[in-house]
Amino acid sequence: MKRAQAAWRRGGAALLLGIALAGCHRPLPTADADLIVVGAGIAGLSAALEASDHGARVLVLEANSVGGGHAVMAGGLFLVDTPLQRRRGIEDSVELALRDMLTWGEDADERWLRRYVAASRPEVYDWLVAQGVEFRAVLPAPGETSVPRFHFTRGAALHVVRPLLREALRREPIEIGFGVEVTGLKRIAGGWRLRSRHLRSGRTMQFTAPAVIIASGGFEGSLEQVRAHWPSRWAVPPRLLNGAGHFATGAGLVLGEQAGAAVARLDHQAIFVTGLPDPRDPAGQHGLFAQNPAAIFVTADGRRFIDESAPRKQLEQAVLSLPGQSYWLIFDERGRRRLRVRGAPWLDRETLQAEILDNPAVTGKATSLRRLAEQAGLPPAALAATVQRYNAMLAAGDDRDFRRFGPERPPRGLRPIDTAPFYALRLYPMSRKSLGGLVIGDDADVLAPDGSPIPGLFAAGEVTGVAGINGRFGGSGTFLGPSVFTGRLAGRSAARLAGRLPLAASPPSLPAGEPVTASEATAGLAARLKAQRPGDWHFARAHSLVLERRWSCSGCHSAGWGPQPATNRAQRLRQLDSCERCH
Ligand SMILES: Cc1cc2nc3c(=O)[nH]c(=O)nc-3n(C[C@H](O)[C@H](O)[C@H](O)COP(=O)(O)OP(=O)(O)OC[C@H]3O[C@@H](n4cnc5c(N)ncnc54)[C@H](O)[C@@H]3O)c2cc1C
Ligand code: HEC
Ligand code: HEC
Repeated sequence: MKRAQAAWRRGGAALLLGIALAGCHRPLPTADADLIVVGAGIAGLSAALEASDHGARVLVLEANSVGGGHAVMAGGLFLVDTPLQRRRGIEDSVELALRDMLTWGEDADERWLRRYVAASRPEVYDWLVAQGVEFRAVLPAPGETSVPRFHFTRGAALHVVRPLLREALRREPIEIGFGVEVTGLKRIAGGWRLRSRHLRSGRTMQFTAPAVIIASGGFEGSLEQVRAHWPSRWAVPPRLLNGAGHFATGAGLVLGEQAGAAVARLDHQAIFVTGLPDPRDPAGQHGLFAQNPAAIFVTADGRRFIDESAPRKQLEQAVLSLPGQSYWLIFDERGRRRLRVRGAPWLDRETLQAEILDNPAVTGKATSLRRLAEQAGLPPAALAATVQRYNAMLAAGDDRDFRRFGPERPPRGLRPIDTAPFYALRLYPMSRKSLGGLVIGDDADVLAPDGSPIPGLFAAGEVTGVAGINGRFGGSGTFLGPSVFTGRLAGRSAARLAGRLPLAASPPSLPAGEPVTASEATAGLAARLKAQRPGDWHFARAHSLVLERRWSCSGCHSAGWGPQPATNRAQRLRQLDSCERCH
C-alpha cells in the first residue's frame, strides 16, 4: 500500500505544473487515476494491464461483484497462424483467414478485420501466452473456416480471462472497484468526471481522470434494446429469450452518447436459435444454450426443415424465416444422453434430467410419438410420418430430403429414433452478442458523428461491436480475441494522456464489503439469498448452487478468506481459486 501511495503521490509535481500551466486562474481538478476503465471484462482487463505497462495508474470500475464478464462463460478464440496450429500441422495464413471471414461475415469492416487478423498472433496469442494462458486445442468450425482456428484452453475462456484478472489484482498501480456501476460521464477541464453507484450500499461516488475507456460490453442483455435494433430482414420473434448476461445492459452506449459519441451497426446482432427457456427463471426470459446432435428438428407442422448438422448461420437464417420462429428437437431415450445444456447448474446430469427432461413445463415426454405430438401441440400423424421417413432414410444411408447424410457422407453416430420414451424440446431465438456499438478510430478513440475523436475517451470490446470485424454474422471465437486486441490498443492510447491531470495523493477510496458475523454467514445464508439485496446478483446465483449441492463452505472459504466478503487484494486473489468449481 505504501508503495502505491508513494506512486500515487507523483501527482504532486504534476499538480504544481498544472497550476503553473493554468496561470493564476483555475487549478486543474485532481484525478483519482490517470485512466478509468469501465468494466472488468476481457477488454477492460486487457486495457488496464496494457495501460499500466505504459506507466499509467488505472482505476477499473466493475458493476458485478466479481470480474471477468462474459468471457467466464465463453469458449474459444479465433486466432490466425499460431504456433499451436503449426504444432498441429495446420497451415494457416492471414490472407486465408481474411477470405474466410469476409465470406462468412458479409459486410465486415475490412480495415479492422485486416488489422485484427494480422495482429491476432503477436498481439493476442503471444500476449495471452505471456500472461500464463495455455492454449491446448484448435477446433474446426465447419462451413465457416477453411482450416481449424478456434483456440481453446483446458476448459472455458475462464482460463483465458482469469490470468488477466489475477495479474490486475496483483499490480498495485491498478485498483479495481467491484460492485460499482458507472451511471454518468461528463467532460471537465482536462478530462472526465464519472458518476457511479455502489450497488450494495446505494452510495453514489464520483471519480475523475484525464482518460476513460468504456469497456462495458454489449447490449444483448436488454431485450428492449435488442428488439429496438432488431435486424430488419426478419420479423421480431413472438418469443425472444435473453442469452446474454445480467450486466450486458448497453450502459456503455448511453455513456458514449452522453459524451457525444457516434454509434453504428446496432442492427447487427448475433441471434442464436438454440435457446431453451431457463426453468429457473420465473420471468421466463432467460435462455439456455441447448444442443442435441442425436435429434431431428421439426417445425409446427411436424416436418423437418433443414440438415440438422448445417452450419449455425444456415440454421439461424432458416429458423428466423419460419412462421413462429421456433422449432422442436425430437429425440428418443438413446438420444437423451446426448442433450447438452450450457451453464453451471446443467453440467450435473441429475439436475438436467429432473428440471429439464422430466419437467413437463419445458419438455414433452411420452411413451409413443403420437402422445408426444399431442403433448407438444404438434400434428400427430405428420410427426409420426416424419420420424418414420427419417428412420428409413437412415437405414438406407441416404437423407434424400436434406443431405444430412448420404453415400458420400455416411451417417456417423446417428441412430433411428425408435426407443421410448420420446422427447420434444421447443427452442427459440435468443440474443447473444452485439456486432455494432460505439464507433472507434484507429487508436480505439471514440469518434463523434462528424468523425472527429472525442478527446480522452476510448472504447474497446463488445461495446464497439468489436470494431465491426464480424459484419452481420458473428464467427466462432471472433469476439474474445478482438476484445483483447482493441482493449490493449485503447490501454496504450489512453496511457499517453497519463499525467495530464494531477493525481490525488492516495488511491481512490472504494467501498469494501461489510464483514458478516459467523452466524449471519451460515444460518443466515438462505435468508440473505431470498432477500435479493441489490449488488448480490452473483453472490446469490453462486450460493444457491452451493446450498443446493450441499457443498461445504470450507471447500472455497479457507486460508485467510472465511465465509466473508473479500476485503483486500490477497482475499480477492484467493477467491479466484474457486471460480472453476462452477464455471
Ligand atoms: C454465453 C456466451 C458465450 C460466448 N462464447 C464465446 C466464444 O466462445 N468465443 C468468443 O470469441 N466470444 C464468445 N462470446 C462473446 C464474448 O464472450 C464477449 O463478446 C466478450 O467476452 C466481451 O468482452 P467485453 O470485455 O467487451 O465485455 P463483457 O465481457 O460484457 O464485460 C463488460 C463488463 O462491464 C461490466 N459493466 C457493464 N456495465 C457497467 C457499468 N455501467 N458500470 C460498471 N461496469 C459495467 C459488466 O459487468 C462486465 O463485467 C460469448 C458470449 C456469451 C454471452
Ligand atoms: C464453490 C465455492 C464456494 C463455496 C462452497 C462457498 N462459497 Fe461463499 N463465496 C464464494 C465466492 C466465489 C464468493 C464471492 C462471490 C461474489 O461476491 O459474487 C463468496 C462470497 C461469500 C460471502 C460474501 C458475500 C458478500 O457480502 O460479499 C459470504 C458471506 C459467503 N460466501 C458465505 C458462504 C457460506 C456460508 C458458505 C457455505 C454454506 C459458502 N460461502 C460456500 C465461493 C464459495
Ligand atoms: C458456486 C458457484 C459459482 C462460483 C464459485 C462462481 N460463480 Fe460465477 N456464476 C455462477 C452462476 C450460477 C452464474 C450465473 C450464470 C447464468 O446466469 O447463466 C455466474 C455468473 C458469473 C458471471 C457473469 C457471466 C456473464 O455472462 O455475464 C461472471 C463474470 C462470473 N460468474 C464470474 C465468476 C468468478 C470470477 C468467479 C471466481 C471468483 C466465480 N464466478 C465463481 C456461479 C458461480
